[in-house]
Amino acid sequence: MVGYAFMGAAHSQAWRTVNRVYDLPLRVRMASVCGRDESQVAQAADRLGWESHTTDWRELVARADVDVIDICTPGESHAEIAIAALAAGKHVLCEKPLANTVAEAQQMAQAAQAARAGGVRSMCGFNYRRVPAVTLMRQLVADGRIGTIRHVRAVYLQDWIVDPDFPLVWRLQKDKAGSGALGDIGAHIIDATQFVTGQRITRVSGLTETFVKRRPLPAGSSGLTASAGGDTVDGAGPPTGPVTVDDAALFMARLDGGAVASYEATRFATGRKNGLRIEINGSLGSVAFDFERMNELEFYDATRPGAEQGFNRIIVTEPEHPYLSAWWPPGHGIGYEHSFTHQARDFVAAVAAGDDPAPSFADALQVQQVLEAVERSAELGEWITVESALATATG
Ligand SMILES: NC(=O)c1ccc[n+]([C@@H]2O[C@H](COP(=O)([O-])OP(=O)(O)OC[C@H]3O[C@@H](n4cnc5c(N)ncnc54)[C@H](O)[C@@H]3O)[C@@H](O)[C@H]2O)c1
Repeated sequence: MVGYAFMGAAHSQAWRTVNRVYDLPLRVRMASVCGRDESQVAQAADRLGWESHTTDWRELVARADVDVIDICTPGESHAEIAIAALAAGKHVLCEKPLANTVAEAQQMAQAAQAARAGGVRSMCGFNYRRVPAVTLMRQLVADGRIGTIRHVRAVYLQDWIVDPDFPLVWRLQKDKAGSGALGDIGAHIIDATQFVTGQRITRVSGLTETFVKRRPLPAGSSGLTASAGGDTVDGAGPPTGPVTVDDAALFMARLDGGAVASYEATRFATGRKNGLRIEINGSLGSVAFDFERMNELEFYDATRPGAEQGFNRIIVTEPEHPYLSAWWPPGHGIGYEHSFTHQARDFVAAVAAGDDPAPSFADALQVQQVLEAVERSAELGEWITVESALATATG
């Protein structure tokens, strides 16, 4: 695994847990973790349960006893690590968004396609698909329970940078993160809604906004690039640098199955911490999900007698619900980290079976193309058609 902070901790928890919870044909061995600082990565290896550590990810890729490379670094390094790992015959799990640009994502999708011929698997980590209530939502839609989909309504609301003194971390620098709220959390609702509906976004009309244009440089910010160089606006106060990504992104979209959609991703929704909400309205009913109540799904069945109609609150903890037969008795809810265990389960099961796990790098490339289309639309003030991922991935 490369990177050991937020996602590194979540993925480690998943790798540690997956064989205890699920009966899988392969056992996970946590061979080595990579980070840039020797003493910090040594501590992280110990804390997170890795057998060894290194400060150079190329060492992981070169090791004969390593079968999987798990990429948990910022987007700027995804392409280089993933392409090298695939070329070395390692299966790759890469965090979202797949890359910082469509060009990088295309190279990654091509590398994945070439490696696939040799039985090498790859997957992008859109973990919200693996929240059981979201998977159940997809099943209800696929079973025709809400009929023809008319509306898709998705928001992802956070508030961690409302304070203008919050420092200029890597997520606020375009060369490190690719984009802001759009790629970080907008990518999740793009993937989740396409997963739930089985429809792909074809056209978008978007706007983006950066509310706070300069921020204090983080303490000890030696990793900052030229674009974030430490100058001050008026020569007073702590050094600041420019925010080069969006704070908020909103867009309307058309989907290829005829649905219309609206999306909103923001880090300025004061009071909202991880408000990923999706509602789908169809000709026969509706489904609605809110991550802050992740063990619940709302389902409205318009085919029931009028007197009985209303949104049902399904507590998604029954053994017949996706992923849940291996966990706790009904009503004993699960949490955020379980989505990563489910992701690890699906990845290991696919590797063992010689199947391609989803979402593939080609799927994640298509999400990247939607992100880019939104950025272009915001820039030009026009509707933009999303490029076809498959056509571009295969050249
Ligand atoms: N699936 C999700 O819900 C979710 C949530 C948060 C972040 N992410 C994604 O996960 C990725 C990492 O985000 P994070 O929140 O864990 O970031 P983070 O800042 O918490 O951790 C990044 C880690 O990468 C390491 N790192 C950076 N460059 C490196 C390099 N060249 N070699 C080795 N290690 C390097 C850092 O030392 C750190 O350990 C990003 O792509 C992000 O978009 C996904």
